[in-house]
Amino acid sequence: ERERIPVICIDGPTASGKGTIAAEVAKALGYQLLDSGALYRITGLAASRAGLALDESSEETIAEMALEMPVRFDAQQRVWLGDEDISLAIRSEEAGMNASRVSALPAVRSALVDLQLAFQHLPGLVADGRDMGTVIFPHAPLKVYLWASAQCRAERRYKQLISKGISANISTLLADLEARDARDMNRATAPLKPAEDSLQLDSSQMTIEEVVAQVLSWWQERQLFG
Ligand code: DC
Repeated sequence: ERERIPVICIDGPTASGKGTIAAEVAKALGYQLLDSGALYRITGLAASRAGLALDESSEETIAEMALEMPVRFDAQQRVWLGDEDISLAIRSEEAGMNASRVSALPAVRSALVDLQLAFQHLPGLVADGRDMGTVIFPHAPLKVYLWASAQCRAERRYKQLISKGISANISTLLADLEARDARDMNRATAPLKPAEDSLQLDSSQMTIEEVVAQVLSWWQERQLFG
């Protein structure tokens, strides 16, 4: 049954604009949205609050927590853990780094599989992450690998933080982003890499609108020509 629900995967490195693009594409098509990174961020937050070391020594405990977390996304895309709105708490740089740490643990990744699959609803799903096309939704008819140069991504993240009134430093951001890329790409389980059947898009010189238009036009081609 689920196999018949169309899925558009948007994978790529941190700060490539995936989140924004996936949300816009989902809105344009009236599809469900899966922000899989948020699930790893929530897991990282829950684990660090519990005082656990975010490494192999706590792998099974963190995986059990991930299985039982009362996570909910509301219609405004706010993220809830039980009755606490953790939308802002999971967006910090530290939360991103903690997410990257717990996401390298295979037991944690398997614990989150069913939760991700459950996002498939008609008329369709747009899924954003690192392994949407390679591991979670291998049958997806459209897989986009979205990237941009590290310098561009650091500049985007910088502007984003400054606009929120958060002080930031470009070279620190660039170093953090490269460290996170390296961990996400070199881990043994489900590393970040383009799916063989993905379409790659370098967004370094593109606006959000242009990227969204490109993805929608690829999707239209898929509908027309299979
Ligand atoms: O997309 P994001 O920045 O919210 O993701 C946070 C971290 O979670 C990222 O550094 C790696 C991990 N992640 C993952 O391993 N697999 C996914 N599908 C999504 C995110």
